[in-house]
Amino acid sequence: MTATDRPGPPLWLLAELTYRCPLHCAFCYNPVDFARTSADDELDTEAWLRVLNEARVLGSVQCGFSGGEPLVRDDLEVLVAEAHRLGYYTNLLTSGVGLTEDRAEALKRAGLDHIQLSFQDTTKELNDFLSHTRTFDLKQKVAHTIKANGWPMVMNCVIHRLNIDHIGQIIEMAVALGAEYLELANNQYYSWALLNRDQLLPSREQLERAERITNEYRAKLGDKLRIFFVVPDYYETRPKKCMNGWGNVFLTVTPDGTALPCHTAKMLPGLSFPNVRETSVGEIWYDSEGFNRYRGDGWMSDTCKTCPDKEKDLGGCRCQAFMLAGDAAAPDPVCDKSPAHQVVLDAVARAQRPGAVSTAPLVFRDPKASRQIAP
Ligand code: FES
Repeated sequence: MTATDRPGPPLWLLAELTYRCPLHCAFCYNPVDFARTSADDELDTEAWLRVLNEARVLGSVQCGFSGGEPLVRDDLEVLVAEAHRLGYYTNLLTSGVGLTEDRAEALKRAGLDHIQLSFQDTTKELNDFLSHTRTFDLKQKVAHTIKANGWPMVMNCVIHRLNIDHIGQIIEMAVALGAEYLELANNQYYSWALLNRDQLLPSREQLERAERITNEYRAKLGDKLRIFFVVPDYYETRPKKCMNGWGNVFLTVTPDGTALPCHTAKMLPGLSFPNVRETSVGEIWYDSEGFNRYRGDGWMSDTCKTCPDKEKDLGGCRCQAFMLAGDAAAPDPVCDKSPAHQVVLDAVARAQRPGAVSTAPLVFRDPKASRQIAP
């Protein structure tokens, strides 16, 4: 990258307030070593307020509060109120656990614009199995609380082999709950989902059926429910433009204050990322080695550098390149030009076998499993 390529501001700030979470989803995108960050390591209210201010001065306009479960922080209302005062569009990404009527009213008063509520499935059995909690009934109640407070209802459901055949019922449930938006987020295989990939990757037939049913509902429902269908990139031949480009618009601040261009970048070896406790958000965004490393195309291999699609996908995802090809600067193995593409083809081939659901038990995201995997 040259001096004239100075990036624009971090338009999207993701505040990962905590890794604490009452749920234990087998596809969670939090890092598998999340248990290394305890509640004592989390940024305090004052530090988060400073981050919100610094990022807004820089030009951030959207602020997502996520986790873990952000509602376990009892200062959430204070942070939302400050973000609102600063002029952010604010979004809460939640499992619903902890969103009591009192807290919903307080968040409404604080100016929260948007809530995204996650479900794991339409059946109580599978919802509760996948999250390893009894939360299905509570989520239904929370959906009503969200509507009662006048927020648009945005429902999110991570889609994978175990629930993809329920796609019609998932859409019906979104309609019944009065959702305005439904995100059918096909699982991307990072962190806990990567550990469970053979159990979670759907077959091509399942995927095609789900897309067809989704399109039928889109035609039937029109504007009543806007449905986003995120395709799993393993079934593509060109990679996704991950985070819309490294250090381009997204800035994630993890619970302990580490600033990252995406929520899993900390796993990349040989890269250091600053902490908002010691470094200003502006310095992090424009000057840090970690944020500059994969900007532009200077880092790219010849495969990516000479590819006519490089502006469209900027070489795909650095984390996926590291996880699947062992080199963060390699082309994303999802790309059929990648020398490591066979890894993706093999995973996809395994998913096509009839009745191929792996019998290996799912690894659920919990602190004990995290400590065993990453002591
Ligand atoms: Fe880290 Fe794609 S998730 S760059």
